[in-house]
Amino acid sequence: MSNKVAIITGGARGIGLGIAVCLARKDMRIVIADRDGAAARTAAEQFGGLGVACDVTDRAQVADLVQQTITRFGRIDVLVNNAGICPFVDVMEMDPSTFKKTLDVNLTGAFHCTQLVAREMLARSIQGRIVFITSLAVNVTSARQGDYAASKAGLHMLMKSFAIALGPHGITCNAVAPGMILTDLTRFHWEKPENAAFIKQRVPAGRIGTPEDIGQAVALLVSDEAGYINGVGLIVDGGHQAVCA
Ligand SMILES: NC(=O)c1ccc[n+]([C@@H]2O[C@H](COP(=O)([O-])OP(=O)(O)OC[C@H]3O[C@@H](n4cnc5c(N)ncnc54)[C@H](O)[C@@H]3O)[C@@H](O)[C@H]2O)c1
Repeated sequence: MSNKVAIITGGARGIGLGIAVCLARKDMRIVIADRDGAAARTAAEQFGGLGVACDVTDRAQVADLVQQTITRFGRIDVLVNNAGICPFVDVMEMDPSTFKKTLDVNLTGAFHCTQLVAREMLARSIQGRIVFITSLAVNVTSARQGDYAASKAGLHMLMKSFAIALGPHGITCNAVAPGMILTDLTRFHWEKPENAAFIKQRVPAGRIGTPEDIGQAVALLVSDEAGYINGVGLIVDGGHQAVCA
C-alpha cells in the first residue's frame, strides 16, 4: 500500500466520492472532509479511511481537519478542493447573502484548505499535489450562475497563485474543470428527458459524465509522473466545450 494520504473536501458524495474511489484504487489513504459529518464517516468507512465533519468556510474546522489527519496518518500528500455549491438563482433576483455564501464555500473555503494544508506539506518537505475542482463556468456562464461562475473563475486564478508560491517547493497546484456530471447537484436538471436528449446530441462523448470520469483526471494530476504539470486547468467534459454550435 502507498503511504500517500489524500484529503478530499466535499467527498461524502458526488464528484468528491468519485475522486476518493479513484485515489483509493491508487492505494492512497483517504480522508473525506464534508460539512455532512455522518455522510463523511460513512463514505470513509468503505476505504478504511478517516471521515471528518468540516465546513470549509470555517477556518478553525479546517485547522482541526489538518490536525486530525496528521494525528491519524502523520502526513498529507494530496488535497482536492472539491466542496462546492451552486444555488442557481437569477443574478438580478439574487440575495446578497446567497452571493456571499457561494463565494465563501467555493472560493474562500479552498483558500483556507490550501493555505493550511500547504503549510503542513512545507513543514514536512512533502512534494504534494493540490487539485482545485472548478467548472466550465470558468469561461462560460448563464444568468443563473453569476455567483457560481465568479467563484469558479476566481478559484482558477487562486490555483495559479498557489502554483507560483508552492512550485519552488515541489508542490503542484492544478485545476480540473468538469463538464456536465450526474450528481445530487445536477440530477434535478439532467433527469428531465429533454435535457438528457440535449446531452446525447451536444456532447461528443454522447453521454453525461460520471464522478469517476473526474476522479481519473485527478488521479493523473496527483501522480508522481505529473511533477512538471503546474498551474494549469484540465477540462474534462467529453468534448462539450470544443463544440461551437
Ligand atoms: N456536477 C456537475 O455537473 C459539476 C460540474 C462542474 C463542476 N462541479 C463541481 O464539482 C464539485 C462537486 O460537485 P457535486 O456535483 O459532486 O456536488 P454535490 O452537491 O453532489 O456534492 C457536494 C458535496 O460538498 C459538500 N459541501 C457543500 N458545502 C460544503 C462546505 N461548506 N464544507 C464542506 N463540504 C461542503 C456537500 O455536503 C456534498 O457532500 C463542486 O465544486 C461543483 O461546483 C460539478
